[in-house]
Amino acid sequence: MKIIHNVIQMQAIADQLKKKSKTIGFVPTMGYLHNGHLSLIARSVKECDITVVSIYVNPLQFGPKEDFKKYPRDIKTDLKLCRQQNVDYVFIPKDEQIYPVGYMTEVRVKGITESLCGKSRPGHFSGVTTIVNKLFNIVKPGIAYFGQKDAQQSLVIKKMVKDLHMPLKIKVLPIIRELDGLAMSSRNAYLDAKYRRDAILLYLSLKKAKHLIAKKLRKTAKIISQMKRLLSQSEFATIDYIVIVDADSLNEVKQLKAKTKVLIALAVYIGKVRLIDNIIVKVD
Ligand code: PAF
Repeated sequence: MKIIHNVIQMQAIADQLKKKSKTIGFVPTMGYLHNGHLSLIARSVKECDITVVSIYVNPLQFGPKEDFKKYPRDIKTDLKLCRQQNVDYVFIPKDEQIYPVGYMTEVRVKGITESLCGKSRPGHFSGVTTIVNKLFNIVKPGIAYFGQKDAQQSLVIKKMVKDLHMPLKIKVLPIIRELDGLAMSSRNAYLDAKYRRDAILLYLSLKKAKHLIAKKLRKTAKIISQMKRLLSQSEFATIDYIVIVDADSLNEVKQLKAKTKVLIALAVYIGKVRLIDNIIVKVD
């Protein structure tokens, strides 16, 4: 496994691999790898000739009051995990090369970035699309892998790739959960024991919604109010948003219709820790 820090060197490696007709699978990450990341890496290793993992905590996607500085980092363990997974290259770029003095460009997807997480984290998605665009130009993947946990991020990236005619495929893989259902996330490291206990309520409320839909409840406002009631069991939970939206367009759905697919997504603070989770439900 090779560790690359330099943008030009990574691009040269990608060019060489493409000359040899190798398919490059790419897993962009901010590090502090967990089983969710590892599932993406394993799929890339299985499907592609070469797997590149990037580790870069991208300052551009954090708001001024967010957790950029304290975002968990553990490069040594990350590298060990990548080695165990047979990753070929780990790309760990330096800030000075990604955003050098005088850097001026941003890539922004409109519309679907303005609701859900985009509403409470202004600028977040243009930070994501800018870095992902840059990483695609550096790593030149044939396939890039993302997790369904960041459902809106995955849709935004797919839209960017389509709109900008980028020559790669995006694959979105299922959420990996802890045994009790909590979606795996690097930010779970912030949860102390009492918060960790209540964090399970996000998944329980999603399961509740799925159950209500199976029982033919069709008014989304009613489903959301039951989810809120369940979350109110926690003295530490503050809801940022709960939505039931069309799974492709993210447009709000008021009344569920047969044969449609909805995304039920939520962001909830448990104490000061902001967690997100979602499920996709097919309505009968
Ligand atoms: O999902 C993440 O970890 C990040 O948003 C990504 C895609 C690596 C861009 O920084």
